[in-house]
Amino acid sequence: MRSIINEKNLNNKKILLRLDLNVPLEKDKIKDTTRIDKILPTLNFLIKEKAKIIILSHVGRPKGEIVKELSLEPICKELQNKLGKKVKLITENIKEIKSKNLLNNYNDEILILENIRFYSEEEQNDNKFAKLLSNLGDIYVNDAFSCSHRAHASINQIPKFMPSFSGLQLDLEVNALNKITSEITRPITCIIGGSKISTKINVIKNLITKFDNIIIVGGMANNFIEYFGNSVGNSIKETNCDKIIEEIIYLSKKEKCRIIYPEDVVVSKDLNGSPQKRELSEILSDEIILDIGPKTIEKITKIIDSSKTILWNGPAGYFENPNFAYGSIQIAKKIIENNKSNKIFSVVGGGDTVSLLNNLNSVNKFNFVSTAGGAFLEYLEGKNLPGITALN
Ligand code: 3PG
Repeated sequence: MRSIINEKNLNNKKILLRLDLNVPLEKDKIKDTTRIDKILPTLNFLIKEKAKIIILSHVGRPKGEIVKELSLEPICKELQNKLGKKVKLITENIKEIKSKNLLNNYNDEILILENIRFYSEEEQNDNKFAKLLSNLGDIYVNDAFSCSHRAHASINQIPKFMPSFSGLQLDLEVNALNKITSEITRPITCIIGGSKISTKINVIKNLITKFDNIIIVGGMANNFIEYFGNSVGNSIKETNCDKIIEEIIYLSKKEKCRIIYPEDVVVSKDLNGSPQKRELSEILSDEIILDIGPKTIEKITKIIDSSKTILWNGPAGYFENPNFAYGSIQIAKKIIENNKSNKIFSVVGGGDTVSLLNNLNSVNKFNFVSTAGGAFLEYLEGKNLPGITALN
């Protein structure tokens, strides 16, 4: 994989830049601009090198139809504000655009083509569509790690037709993930949460072979609590998970990886209720587990202290209600503290965890925070991502 950062002579070159500008939109308002903020260094680098930029991106899932609410227009405006430069939205049918008509005005520097998923060929990974797109530029850059698990034309096919490079953000993301999957500094610990264990089983199985500790928190820990003989009351849990848990236990013994799940919890009768500490044997049938308890926090804190690398994906509780955010906040604080004194390398990912860190104003206090959802997990599962494979 060659990075665009090492390329000379970009002056006046037309760069076809695939970004992930898939930000949450409510009407015309962008609810979280993290993904836009993260790719600004790539755009600023290309601007400095006097390249001409043609941005490709999707937002939402319009499924090959033109959906007015999923126009890139508000995102184009936001980019323009953040860059302090004109960014022109091209709404013309991509299949009818003539390359010579693009960027022919001397003042045009940055164009953004309308939502690439308005064309069914994109998700069909259509070769001809990719060829047509490639004709619009001289060089392709993928700075959309978070889309690189999709075998889509603008991710997987374009590199077949033109010189292709990784962007700055994609480089950072892959380097951070390599540090926790291949160039590991041990001991290495993963804190993993989420509501469904079945969606994380492949990640856990892959990490067991490399990690020293895997700490299971969040809704999916309820399955462990129940498997080991305690009632979880009215808490969320997935059905038919015993086999998955047995597989995890078997593999962890074989690979000498410790699996840790909560020893005590914080419950309530509903999501808006008040918090009560409980031993695992004390959970009542109408109670819901909403956070980890003090003994568990202490145990996790000690494990973080004895680790040199940490991967965190998934909050420890229902952090949306501050009554149940304490466990997640303590985990965040401990990682931040050890990060500050350079004792650990920390990588955090997953929508909920990033939103927790945004609430705490702490996104910049970790070595790397990934905004990639599916791509982050697939990479951790050890899968080859079509976007990365294409660049290689
Ligand atoms: C994401 O938000 O994870 C990426 O933009 C990919 O979006 P998708 O899940 O709709 O393919």
